[in-house]
Amino acid sequence: MSAPRPLVAGNWKMNGLKAALVELAAIRDAVAAGGAGRAETAICPPFTLVAAAADACKGSALAIGAQDCHAKVSGAHTGDVSAQMLHDAGATYVIVGHSERRADHGETDAIVRAKAAAVIKAGLTAIVCVGETKDERLAGQAAAIVGGQIDGSLDPDFPATHLVVAYEPVWAIGTGLTPTAGDVAEIHAVIRQKLLKAYGPKGGAIRILYGGSVKPSNAAELMGVKNVDGALVGGASLKCADFMGIAGVYK
Ligand code: 13P
Repeated sequence: MSAPRPLVAGNWKMNGLKAALVELAAIRDAVAAGGAGRAETAICPPFTLVAAAADACKGSALAIGAQDCHAKVSGAHTGDVSAQMLHDAGATYVIVGHSERRADHGETDAIVRAKAAAVIKAGLTAIVCVGETKDERLAGQAAAIVGGQIDGSLDPDFPATHLVVAYEPVWAIGTGLTPTAGDVAEIHAVIRQKLLKAYGPKGGAIRILYGGSVKPSNAAELMGVKNVDGALVGGASLKCADFMGIAGVYK
């Protein structure tokens, strides 16, 4: 099976007022001008901007995603947003299980799995995040922890076509630190084996993104690692020049 089409996705986290739609439009136009080469691109702004961002990018090659959703379709869940609502707003991707949500909101693998199921049921693609903490890596447990998160967060019944996995070592997020290419290769190989076991040959087509301090200066090396099919970018996705400096690796 040929390598999957890469995906470079930006996670804006809790950043971005309406004025940030100007930056989004710049990214949309840079992608339209061929700046991301063969890569697919997406930006996941905060909930408040999803609908406006999707309207601004309608018919363009820049997809819009969200950063979380509730596992249920609707109901008495004050403050929550369902995958169906995100679909209605024009999103095509939803990040689930980001380490900041696992840490800040106590999200377990079972909760992440239920959210991913809701995303897929709504017709969207789930970007399921996994990654070890610094202590877990220092204890030599990185592969075991990530493997366990994959087992717990994914359902073999998920359609492989609507699934993306993002490996984001917690200690590399927002710190400027990155694992070595060898360490990334090791963990991505573990994830690939798990995906092949769960989904058969279709598991070979599931994108496995690397995330954690990706920037234009290290993108080529990280994206060149075997089984790395793109990036999930935090801070560097807020500025068009930085985001395109990363996506431009695929030109
Ligand atoms: P940074 O790129 O800011 O390290 O964030 C990575 C991340 O958490 C993306 O989801």
